[in-house]
Amino acid sequence: MTSTPYSTARIRSDFLEFFQGKGHTIVPSAPLVPGNDPTLLFTNSGMVQFKDVFLGAEKRSYVRAADVQRCLRAGGKHNDLDSVGYTARHHTFFEMLGNWSFGDYFKKDAIAWAWELLTGVWKLPAERLLVTVYHTDDEAYALWRDMVGVPEERIIRIGDNKGAPFASDNFWQMADTGPCGPCTEIFFDHGAHIAGGPPGSPDEDGDRFIEIWNLVFMQFDRQPDGTLVPLPAPCVDTGMGLERLAAILQHVHSNYEIDLFQALIRHAAELTGTADLENKSLRVIADHIRASSFLIVDGVLPSNEGRGYVLRRIIRRALRHGWMLGVRQPFFHQLVGTLTGLMGEAYPELPAARDLVERALKAEEERFAETLDSGMRIFNDVAARATGGLIPGADVFRLYDTYGFPVDLTADMARERGMSVDMQGFEAAMEQQRETARAAGKFGGGTSLPAELVAQLVPTGFLGYDRLEADGLQVVAILREGRPAGALEAGEEGIVFLDRTPFYAESGGQVGDTGVLAEAETRFAVADTQKFAGQFHGHVGRVGQGRIAVGDRLSALVDGQRRAATVLNHSATHLLHAALREVLGTHVQQKGSLVAPDRLRFDFSHFQPMSATELAEIERRVNAEVRANHEAEVHQMGMQEALDFGAMALFGEKYGERVRVLRMGDSSTELCGGTHVGRTGDIGVFKITAEGGVSAGVRRIEALTGQGALDYIAAEERSLDEAASALGGNRGDVADKARALAERIRRLEREVESFKAKAASSAAADLAAAAVEIEGIRVLAARLVGVDAKGLREAVDRLKQQLGDAVIVLAGAQDGKAALVAGVNGSATGRIKAGELLAHVASRIGGKGGGRPDLAQGGGEDGPALALALDEVPAWVSQRLQ
Ligand code: ALA
Repeated sequence: MTSTPYSTARIRSDFLEFFQGKGHTIVPSAPLVPGNDPTLLFTNSGMVQFKDVFLGAEKRSYVRAADVQRCLRAGGKHNDLDSVGYTARHHTFFEMLGNWSFGDYFKKDAIAWAWELLTGVWKLPAERLLVTVYHTDDEAYALWRDMVGVPEERIIRIGDNKGAPFASDNFWQMADTGPCGPCTEIFFDHGAHIAGGPPGSPDEDGDRFIEIWNLVFMQFDRQPDGTLVPLPAPCVDTGMGLERLAAILQHVHSNYEIDLFQALIRHAAELTGTADLENKSLRVIADHIRASSFLIVDGVLPSNEGRGYVLRRIIRRALRHGWMLGVRQPFFHQLVGTLTGLMGEAYPELPAARDLVERALKAEEERFAETLDSGMRIFNDVAARATGGLIPGADVFRLYDTYGFPVDLTADMARERGMSVDMQGFEAAMEQQRETARAAGKFGGGTSLPAELVAQLVPTGFLGYDRLEADGLQVVAILREGRPAGALEAGEEGIVFLDRTPFYAESGGQVGDTGVLAEAETRFAVADTQKFAGQFHGHVGRVGQGRIAVGDRLSALVDGQRRAATVLNHSATHLLHAALREVLGTHVQQKGSLVAPDRLRFDFSHFQPMSATELAEIERRVNAEVRANHEAEVHQMGMQEALDFGAMALFGEKYGERVRVLRMGDSSTELCGGTHVGRTGDIGVFKITAEGGVSAGVRRIEALTGQGALDYIAAEERSLDEAASALGGNRGDVADKARALAERIRRLEREVESFKAKAASSAAADLAAAAVEIEGIRVLAARLVGVDAKGLREAVDRLKQQLGDAVIVLAGAQDGKAALVAGVNGSATGRIKAGELLAHVASRIGGKGGGRPDLAQGGGEDGPALALALDEVPAWVSQRLQ
């Protein structure tokens, strides 16, 4: 198959070259985790990175673009997870070939070029292509019929077939809100020998007619209430599935038969010892290794919430299929090498993160291996017992909670047996966990702006890289209680937007600036600065005096001391990041960061706690960079140029076309919009204060810089001095003194123990005198304070020897409890049973006990009942002796 002229690699380049020839700019694939888009779990289509361009909120230097975008449809609005392995064409991860017009060409060119590429370049037979249009889109219909010449019987109108207005296979939307519009789709007919009907027919879900290309005519921005607001300019968004197209061009029917998948399937077959290459489980594994690897490349790690949980579900599903093929050892991570060989050239970020991907997958395999086997046994039992084809909710929950089986995994297994799961019962059983999941899945909210403001504002110009004050700044908008307002009166709180500002808005972990906006008699105290819709700096605060209205001109003054302290921590964070990668390895990726005036916190991927030596080495390296006093150089460049320059980019961050690169010495080069020191020497000192785990595979370092670090060191020294003086030594010998002291305490404890034992046995000697004689047998019952069971046993032994023919009960009282030991000796043996006597006494003090005829022990409560029970012992013995 690899000898075919149309390898997936060739299709990617054919596509890009074709559109480059039509004046399109080639844009790289964005990560699977969308930069700063809280409405979306994953990049589910090519358009995601262009969303703001459609909305008019972001401008690019081009109006035509083309790319090959990696996409994930698992979890969220577009979810194909359940279909993978069951159809010939569904994937969790796939590649989308797309071309875009941002207010440039529209339906006519989009349709003409799509046809030219398919039938002219790739020579697909026109008679095997069908098209659909949205039912009211007469324009697209006419273009297909009159311009392209598609016969009417192969142009199908599709209406609102999903139960609501504009809910249709031919009306595309990325998410519940955002850009959307009618679309026209191109289908390929795989031939009458395959089951399935044309689009719009009852059996359209079969595999015969496969949608290959979707041309969306973006015209609206869907609001949360469902209304459609026209976009500033109509746009084109197209998406063609690379795998589906490859199947056609390689003359195979299923996507899983194409070059790329076959190589993965063959390796998976080898690892699992499977001879049948058509096995459905191999397909699932081949699909899931792509999704999981790229998710990890793009910064996601398996966890129990949000994106991490989707990743965990995908991995565990693959592992279960491995299990079905008989594998009992970690195998999945071994596919990463093959995948890197296949896709590393198109996506260089994959080979760069290979080590991390393998380690993260292996760790997850090892974790799930602990419960997979028992979980499968339990499932098989439950399924065999289940009635009515339904797996009870309580069992689904047990599998989920105790055995780590995601619900969709159990549902998948049920489906294979023609059964289903009782979702209602499951939901009821996991109310608690559902709360957690809801909290975790709560995307949305955050710093969004009313749409009318986004349309009217221009991105805030940031002046604060080199100054902290500015005059003549214009108020362009005001929010009061989340709504646009004309003005804020004295005493009112709100958010003020200016055309330009020296205030840094919270982003990239760096906290927002505080300070004052002022004019003549007006004062607005800025308590925080937040970034709205990714590009508007909102000054959050309160009018102390006067009044602020839209249109006013104000001066701004940032709290310089706070900012100055913050920049030290920001620059130190970059040096720390670089040092971690040097010392621990390049699998270290930033997972989160907080840069505040008084401290920094850095979360990163790493699989074990750091040793003291590693931490010391990190501190040493960072401080060496500080002392080298490198200039913090700032460069503006294109994204590709920046990556070529060696800059580290962070996943989940959104970068514009022009990026800001910060370089400090040879070790640290990062994309960053934050504010920084002039030279690394400004940082002064770098001191780590804590290292710990945050979640599986993520560690956290907390550290201080500058005066904060010195204060910390001084405080540590003070407590060392205090400890030294308490120990009667000095800083140099604290450890020796403490060790000697601990040794002395241990010795004294041992001495105390032996004194206690001696005291107990001499007390026992005194006790002998207290025995009463009954029928020639000496009976003794006594309470001893602070003697444990062992001491009591020793005392009973001693008393036996002293008293000869005797019955003895001793109670050792300690902390409200009483230990009991009873002994019988000499001629009393056989007549009185120690076990019975002890059981009797114990029962009187709410306890229990028993033992041999000559020695028994137990315990109960100390208190008045004990005194009474002991008093009664002679009477009890006397009764037994009758
Ligand atoms: N955004 C369109 C799709 O994903 C092209 O189908």
